[in-house]
Amino acid sequence: MTRRILVTSALPYANGPLHLGHIIETIQTDVWVRAQKMFGHDCRYLCADDAHGTPIMLKAQQEGITPEALIARISASHQADFAEFQIGFDVFHSTHSEENRRMSSDIFQRLEARGLITRKTIKQAYDPEKNMFLPDRFIKGECPKCGAADQYGDNCEQCGATYSPTDLKNPRSVLSGATPVERDSEHFFFDLPQMETQVKQWLSEDRVQPAIRAKLQEWFDSGLQPWDISRDAPYFGFEIPGAPGKFFYVWLDAPIGYIGAFLKLAETIDLDFDTYWGEQSETELIHFIGKDIAYFHTLFWPAMLMGAGLRTPTAVYAHGFLTLNGEKMSKSRGTFIQARTFLNHLDPQALRYYFAAKLSSGIDDIDLSLDDFRLRVNSDLVGKVVNIASRCAGFIHKQFDSQLASELADPSLQEYLVAASVSIRQRYERRETGQAMREIMALADFVNQYIDEKKPWVMAKSPETQSAVQGVCTDGLNAFRILLTYLSPVLPTMSAQAAHFLNLPALDWSELDTPLIGRTINAYEPLMTRVEQQATDALLAETKLEALALAEATKGDGAASSPQADAEPEAQPIDPIAPEITIDQFAAIDLRVARIAQAEHVEGAAKLLRLELDIGGGVMRQVFAGIKSAYKPEDLVGRHTVMVANLKPRQMKFGLSEGMVLAAGGGNGELFILSPDVGATPGMRIK
Ligand code: 2FM
Ligand code: ZN
Repeated sequence: MTRRILVTSALPYANGPLHLGHIIETIQTDVWVRAQKMFGHDCRYLCADDAHGTPIMLKAQQEGITPEALIARISASHQADFAEFQIGFDVFHSTHSEENRRMSSDIFQRLEARGLITRKTIKQAYDPEKNMFLPDRFIKGECPKCGAADQYGDNCEQCGATYSPTDLKNPRSVLSGATPVERDSEHFFFDLPQMETQVKQWLSEDRVQPAIRAKLQEWFDSGLQPWDISRDAPYFGFEIPGAPGKFFYVWLDAPIGYIGAFLKLAETIDLDFDTYWGEQSETELIHFIGKDIAYFHTLFWPAMLMGAGLRTPTAVYAHGFLTLNGEKMSKSRGTFIQARTFLNHLDPQALRYYFAAKLSSGIDDIDLSLDDFRLRVNSDLVGKVVNIASRCAGFIHKQFDSQLASELADPSLQEYLVAASVSIRQRYERRETGQAMREIMALADFVNQYIDEKKPWVMAKSPETQSAVQGVCTDGLNAFRILLTYLSPVLPTMSAQAAHFLNLPALDWSELDTPLIGRTINAYEPLMTRVEQQATDALLAETKLEALALAEATKGDGAASSPQADAEPEAQPIDPIAPEITIDQFAAIDLRVARIAQAEHVEGAAKLLRLELDIGGGVMRQVFAGIKSAYKPEDLVGRHTVMVANLKPRQMKFGLSEGMVLAAGGGNGELFILSPDVGATPGMRIK
């Protein structure tokens, strides 16, 4: 049965360039959408820029341009970046559009007609110089609890206290420096508590991941509040019908922007509104989001849709945050990688593959470790998959005039590969793309083994076996076709190139069973090259430079501390917990008590000390440890510590390092070597 599906990614704010956090989300969504399309479903992918709100208005002011000009420029840059990452939207629109204005007003009026909109006068901080109300993040002052200076109006980054801006001591407006005053203003509220039972019912139908459900339960337990959906002029957004000077809060019209994007798409292809958005719609509506905006998508949004008599989402799927080398990406530390910077140095398909290999249906954070990225892409895509084609193509071109054999030499190879399609399909469907990638790579290993066993390069040398080379290489290229079909949602460009090479119109899921035989193939061109360390180093270096330039450009300027410059709160990161290992894997690590017999500086090494470790039984080990910043050699001699005794020795510039000393590392570069309790003697094994 063909399913009809609408899919969305969260709408990026139009106040700055895309970064890799946006890219991982759109890659996750795009892979899912491409998979659905490949399985033959009627699936459409909608997105747009989220173009409203105070930060966008202020940024345009700073640049001396209109907000419309700003969002047009940013939209062009977003679309160019997404296109290079091969994100296949069916439509990319803007929340600042006529379609969205119409839809937002319409939904608001329906809510109002059903008694779901209330009004209340509230007190709010006001900047008397800028003549505008100030969002919490635009007020700074001293923390009422610990007294720390320069804290935002909603929480203290020093002591973690949360409070309201009126509690701050010596508050000032981030925009003008003026002391804010309190002013009354009438606001519109969406009466969320009225919708509680219905939203709970919707949630009970398996719409969200278990971790998000648990979070929602906490929100229900602490009691739902009416939601403030209006903001006063000046504001860049849609004016509320019948309420001059009052605007919809950006988070009201942002999700409605999904419908706005749909309406835009419906201008070019014939899509019936009620089939997609009517209360009885049977179309699936799937939202992919980051876990930080679950509240908006699993409470406000379904409640608004229900209140307005429209259909609700079928599912909301959240993913975790992207970290870089184990740490939160940070603008000030220069580790905030922009999409464009990545494209300047590296192949977007490599990142598509790496993210696909790391993504799952859960909400754990996802780490981009650049070393791991290189290793994984080089070993899997270059070393396993592309290798199959390059191993086989040469023989077919040189010895068989580019002609494949008229039948497979070993049809069981094809059967084996095709049998995996059921589980690979399920894994795509369940968003377990990491599992799907591992399964595909295991198949690639199998194919390489097949070629290793047949040894076409040996067969080619003797006249009796020479003709059989064609069959073996046909098997190999047919296997390559199947693997690339499986990888198509992740690597659309490589899949199209492979189709061209194999002289097929496209690689198609429904053709998995059809062997690639008896045809002439086109010239082989390398489909992917290795990711070199130079390239990832250059990426990091450029990212650092951008951070320096940003710091320089905003120095002494009010904008430096403005919320949009660093909207991401910079909590102290802790290293994410590494993937689970089995007890056997742990037991494979031989940890020993060692006595530091000698310790000395190493000439020319900035970070290293040379240690001689006594691990008992007269065995001594030389280890170069990067602990110079934290320890004087003379303080170490005679101490007991813990070492990895079976780490493969590593030849370093300064000598052979035969193991590793264990130390705990803090975020600011502090180091603490481990010591066993008193009484432990060299050579004892840690277990
Ligand atoms: O958090 C964000 O980046 C928002 N711009 C996401 C909006 S998603 C949808 F609701 F529009
Ligand atoms: Zn504090």
